[in-house]
Amino acid sequence: MHIHHIAIAVKDLDESLAFYRDALGITVGERKEVLAEGVEIAFLPMGETELELLRPLDPENSIGRFLEKRGEGIHHICVAVEDIEAAVAKLEAAGARMAAEIRSHPDGTRYAFVHPKSSHGVLMELYQKPPEA
Ligand code: CO
Repeated sequence: MHIHHIAIAVKDLDESLAFYRDALGITVGERKEVLAEGVEIAFLPMGETELELLRPLDPENSIGRFLEKRGEGIHHICVAVEDIEAAVAKLEAAGARMAAEIRSHPDGTRYAFVHPKSSHGVLMELYQKPPEA
């Protein structure tokens, strides 16, 4: 098990890249708008894991409301799992509450979110990579 990514909610991607890319020195991978999630994301790969800077495209969506309420900061931590169904079943059996059902990205990646009330204050994403082609 490893951390797949750490997502940080930011107000302005260019301003945040002035810190993460220019001052701290992390190379930016991709930068794209993900309309399905209502965010623009800058991916900053760092070895086995990466930082994802998330900028809401709509102040009323969940990232927008997070920024409004909590300000900039860590939005979620994503853990890679081998079998997401088994991981969710184990969490639910232990009494954990899921914040969202298991969903899929177009590339076959599957993901789900554990409610921060169950994960001691941190929204936690589970991620299962697509099966090898
Ligand atoms: Co994520």
